[in-house]
Amino acid sequence: MKTYFSGFRCYRCGTEQAGAFGGYVCPACGGNLEARYAWPRGAPPRWWLDESRTDVFRYRPLLPVSRLELASPLRVGPTPLYPVPRLGAVAGLRNLHLKDDGQNPSASFKDRAGAVALLRAREIGARVVAGASTGNAGSSMACLAASVGVPCAIFVPEKAPAAKIAQLLVFGATVLAVQGSYDDAFDLCLAVCARRGWFNRNTGHNPFTREGKKTAAFEIFEQLGGIPDWVVVPTGDGNILSGLWKGFCDLREAGLADRRPRMLCAQSDRSDAIARTVAKVPAAVRPMPDWTGVAIEPVRATTLADSISVDVPRDGLAAVRAVVESGGAAVAVPDAEILAAIPEMARNAGVFPEPAAACAWAALKRAAQRGLVKPAESVVCLCTGNGLKDVAHAREAVGAPIPVANTLAAALAATEGM
Ligand SMILES: Cc1ncc(COP(=O)(O)O)c(C=O)c1O
Ligand SMILES: [Zn+2]
Repeated sequence: MKTYFSGFRCYRCGTEQAGAFGGYVCPACGGNLEARYAWPRGAPPRWWLDESRTDVFRYRPLLPVSRLELASPLRVGPTPLYPVPRLGAVAGLRNLHLKDDGQNPSASFKDRAGAVALLRAREIGARVVAGASTGNAGSSMACLAASVGVPCAIFVPEKAPAAKIAQLLVFGATVLAVQGSYDDAFDLCLAVCARRGWFNRNTGHNPFTREGKKTAAFEIFEQLGGIPDWVVVPTGDGNILSGLWKGFCDLREAGLADRRPRMLCAQSDRSDAIARTVAKVPAAVRPMPDWTGVAIEPVRATTLADSISVDVPRDGLAAVRAVVESGGAAVAVPDAEILAAIPEMARNAGVFPEPAAACAWAALKRAAQRGLVKPAESVVCLCTGNGLKDVAHAREAVGAPIPVANTLAAALAATEGM
C-alpha cells in the first residue's frame, strides 16, 4: 500500500532528511524530527481513509507506514468522544466533549504511539523493541509487542505505580526498574539501545510516536464532523500535545480541514517546564520566532501525577511550538486540584481518569475561570489514562466506604434519606 510519507524536518533548525534516513534525531543539531508528507492533489474525497480498518490504521494514508500485515491485531482507537454537559457546567462551558483514551488495549493514549512505532520497528526488521517510560508508554509497548511475539525491554523509574509495573511484567517485557527518575531511565535506555542495536521508541526522540498520537486528531475531526475551538492535553514530555497538533496541521495541509484548534497545554505546577517556556516566548515574535533560540529549562519535577512528572521534556520544543503556533495557552495547576479533578470527572461524566489525565480537566477549569476559554467555545478534553492505573492516588481524593453490619436495619440506617 502507498504511503505519502516523504521524509523528516527538524523542529529546531529546519534541516530536512529523506524518508530512508535511519536515525532518530536531527544529525545537524540533535533536535527532534517531524515526519513530512507529499499529500496528493485532486484525489477522490475519501482518499485519506482505509475503510477496511476499524482502528488507527483507518488513517493509514496519513501515516508513515504501509505494511499493515505486520501491525498488532489489537484494536487501538477509535476511542469514544462523549458530550459531557454536566461536567462542562461545573466550569460554565456549554460545549464540552471528553475523549476517553483509557479505553485502548493497555488503558492509555500511549497505545496510539505504540501501534505505529511497533509497526515501523517490524517494517525495518527490528529484533527487540525498547523504551523508557513513566509507565504507560512502556506498558503499551509491552502489550502490543506481546500481541505479535516481539521481545520488549522497558526502562521505568523504580517508583512507577504498582499497576503499571504489574502490566509490564504480565505482558512479559524485560522490565528494568531504574534507580532514578524517568529522565534517568530515558538516558539509560538511549545508551543501551545504541549499544545493542534495539529499536528505541523513546517518546519524542522517535518521530514515529508522534505520528501515532496524531490519530486522535483525525478521530476528533471525524467524530465532531469538524474542528473544535480548543483541545486540552495533559502534558509531560509534550509528545501527546505535539502529536495532536501535528494531526490537525496534517488535516489542513492535506486540504481536508480549513482550520485548526487552539491547543491548551495542561501541566502540574510541580512539573511545568513547557508552561514556563511558553510564558517566555515573547508575544512580539509570535507566531514564528526563530526556534533555534528557544531553550526549555529543566525543572525538578515532584508532581504526584506520575505520567506527567518530567524534568526535561523530551518533545518540549515541538510542544511549545504547538501552543504558540495554535494561538493556545499553557496552564499549570497545583496537585491538589489534580486530585480533586479525579472524582469530579468521574462523578459528572462517568469517566475515571488517572491523575495525569485529570490534570487536563483541572487546567481547563482554570482556563475557563481566567476567560481564556469562553463559555460557548467547543472544547475537547483528552482523558489519556484510565484511573485504575493509580488507585492509591484516587483513594486520596475520595472518602471511605460506609462500614455497615450485615443486617437490613444497619443498611437502611446507613442509607437514610436516599
Ligand atoms: C496518561 C498520560 N497522560 C499524559 C501523558 C503526557 O504525555 P507527554 O509526556 O507526551 O506529554 C502521559 C505520558 O506518559 C500519560 O501516560
Ligand atoms: Zn536540527
